[in-house]
Amino acid sequence: MPRSVRRIGVLTGGGDAPGLNAVIRAVVRTAGNQYGWEVMGIEDGFEGLLFQRQPRLLTTEDVRGILPRGGTILGTTNRGNPFAYQLKVGGKTEVRDLSRDALARIRELGLDALIVIGGDGSLSIALELHQLGAPIVGIPKTIDNDLSATDITFGFDTALHTATDALDKLHTTAESHHRVMILEVMGRNAGWIAMEAGLAGGADAILIPEIPYRLACIRESIERREAAGRKFSLVVVAEGAKPRDGAQVYQEQGGPTTPGRLGGIANQLAESLRQSIPQEIRVTVLGHLQRGGSPTPFDRILGTRFGAAAVRLIAEGGIGQMVGLHTPHIVPVSLAEAVGKLKRVPPDGELARTARGLGICLGD
Ligand code: F6P
Repeated sequence: MPRSVRRIGVLTGGGDAPGLNAVIRAVVRTAGNQYGWEVMGIEDGFEGLLFQRQPRLLTTEDVRGILPRGGTILGTTNRGNPFAYQLKVGGKTEVRDLSRDALARIRELGLDALIVIGGDGSLSIALELHQLGAPIVGIPKTIDNDLSATDITFGFDTALHTATDALDKLHTTAESHHRVMILEVMGRNAGWIAMEAGLAGGADAILIPEIPYRLACIRESIERREAAGRKFSLVVVAEGAKPRDGAQVYQEQGGPTTPGRLGGIANQLAESLRQSIPQEIRVTVLGHLQRGGSPTPFDRILGTRFGAAAVRLIAEGGIGQMVGLHTPHIVPVSLAEAVGKLKRVPPDGELARTARGLGICLGD
């Protein structure tokens, strides 16, 4: 272990994900228990690194009882990128590069290493800060499961349980009322939540961003079921899915430094289907319910393993790396190789072939 490490910091960036508190707890306990280091909790992601007056030292007492809690005790934001910080000046928004301030702050706080727990956006910022000299170690998180450097991110399993539970509930009411139920789930440009919840919940059609859909495929699937006496259908659509001849649907367009907010494809699909089938159609948009709730045991364990492994990585001098799950091992991965490469559902991979084999419409 490099003798110089005395104090490390930890921050959570981007959208929250169930399991974040398990990571924070594991970081604090491993750092204190195994290495005798102090841990400073930085609130509200990079925003807090730049502007939080006095981050607090986290003790074992502070992380007691947080394993079953969703969210993050540190708070988070998907704004506050130090390289493109949006400042309000005289009623106008100006974009400033505050990355040098972030570096100065890390030094001022006496941090020998900073653990950044984030998705692709926060880890990209972490990489850039590291390239300027910041002593950073990353931990991947997102309910979308779209990071290529790890088999699974924590948060995904809990979101998957929530989406599957929603499908189970829609199933019974769909059957009672002979309706077509469309469930819109999150996932950004990756269809993991839709695909796996669709398989687990017995959906009749699963529409994902990786496979632009033909309306006729969904219509025919509903008609085939009707002809076979099944008077209801379940459709799962990922928020990032789009028709072959159309575009993704946004609730809010992104700016030069912020991503757009997807949402609304389920209602668009329902409108299009209403033109061509007689069945009643209802839409459920699951939204942020997928980000909340108590983490599943899987997410608690993965979060705990990631937190402990990140601390060990610092002790072994692994600055500039992140931890990832390469089943069954937790391994170090260089941040430079990890960020910017999204993991998406392979359109002809095993999951897709399994779904097609079961007669599920994937829209193609
Ligand atoms: O990346 C996680 C995620 O929940 C996506 O699935 C979703 O598109 C997005 O974040 C929603 O972001 P926000 O919380 O800013 O609405």
